[in-house]
Amino acid sequence: MTEDLIPASPTATRLARYTPTDQNEILGDGADPFGVADAGLTWLPKEDHFGIRLEGRLVAHAGLLRLPLSIGGLDLEVVGVGGVAVASDLRGRGLARLVVAAAVDHARTMGAQHGLLFCRPALVPLYQRLGWQRVPQDVQVEQPEGPVVMPLRTMWTPLRPGVNWPAGEVRLRSFPM
Ligand SMILES: CC(C)(COP(=O)(O)OP(=O)(O)OC[C@H]1O[C@@H](n2cnc3c(N)ncnc32)[C@H](O)[C@@H]1OP(=O)(O)O)[C@@H](O)C(=O)NCCC(=O)NCCS
Repeated sequence: MTEDLIPASPTATRLARYTPTDQNEILGDGADPFGVADAGLTWLPKEDHFGIRLEGRLVAHAGLLRLPLSIGGLDLEVVGVGGVAVASDLRGRGLARLVVAAAVDHARTMGAQHGLLFCRPALVPLYQRLGWQRVPQDVQVEQPEGPVVMPLRTMWTPLRPGVNWPAGEVRLRSFPM
């Protein structure tokens, strides 16, 4: 697909499903398309999926999942964003911005106040550009052998006006997404 074939206004829509084949269509079938294998973590699949299709080809994805989190002993539900992916030949053209915005717009309808994601340190500036902020504390996440400190960066975004990130120890009471 060449740049000429990208419509001026591509749109992100909700996907009825998102299979490993769909992910391969975007990222190929390499062993570590998200560059997080070194962390050795067990991840949860996402439940709601948003994507961008260009001429029938799936070229971008972002997924969502409700997650239980506690901050300073306060139990919250947050919406985890994960599986953010753009086809390598179409990066740098705003498709991640578009598909993450569609996912976050939907997250705002899910009742939670905070969106949460984990990313490699190199992607922190990109997500900051999309309106996300670093979670200042270490974040514990569940793993098969018990809780561990998340080695990746944790970021959050408000899903309602005026929401802050509370102080206190942060614990995700599930596998990460
Ligand atoms: C990470 C990834 C999704 C980004 O997709 P993309 O389509 O190239 O991103 P976009 O073009 O939408 O860029 C989003 C914004 O970040 C900005 N940005 C990109 N790289 C940046 C950087 N290093 N520093 C600051 N801002 C940056 C862009 O300029 C854009 O902002 P703008 O719309 O205001 O110009 C893509 O590289 C990818 O699929 N990587 C492999 C899978 C992966 O690692 N996913 C992340 C899982 S957390």
